[in-house]
Amino acid sequence: MFMFNTATTIPINMPVIPRELIVPIEQVSALERVPLYKEDGSIIDINWYRMYKANKDLTKWIIKHCPVECSQIEYIVSDYSLLLHKDSGRSGAINYIIDAGGDNIRTEFVADNETDILTKKVFNQYEWHYLNVSCLHRVVGDLVRPRYLLSLTPTNCVTYKFDWKNNKHLTIEES
Ligand SMILES: [Fe+2]
Repeated sequence: MFMFNTATTIPINMPVIPRELIVPIEQVSALERVPLYKEDGSIIDINWYRMYKANKDLTKWIIKHCPVECSQIEYIVSDYSLLLHKDSGRSGAINYIIDAGGDNIRTEFVADNETDILTKKVFNQYEWHYLNVSCLHRVVGDLVRPRYLLSLTPTNCVTYKFDWKNNKHLTIEES
């Protein structure tokens, strides 16, 4: 698929999600959290970056509209911007901003020398984009409220070294 060899990020042509399928941030926070797993299956314990499994009706809609098979579909709530990192457990992600958390919050992709900026992009609300999250990246700007987004992990991009297919947090629920 064309998107997997993208150096940093490209837009994805998928429709806007019907509003009624998105759980409001106040309600999502009451759901069970999906732990943040490292490559080897150990858990990173941070409370300001929280993930929740997508609701079934939204999952069903995404499976219908997404051009690639996904193994994880999650809401992410982040109270702060993100320092330079590569994602653990995946090389690519398809994201959809529900609330950017402020104006001009930008995502930057940075070369392995940790200095040269490859791409800077302000992702708009309700816009789908593919991210090469095996490339160093960060979220820059002052959040005035939590950043809220939906993040899909294409099955081809999963890099976990443990038995993630039998992990209830890391698989999708359609019905
Ligand atoms: Fe990331």
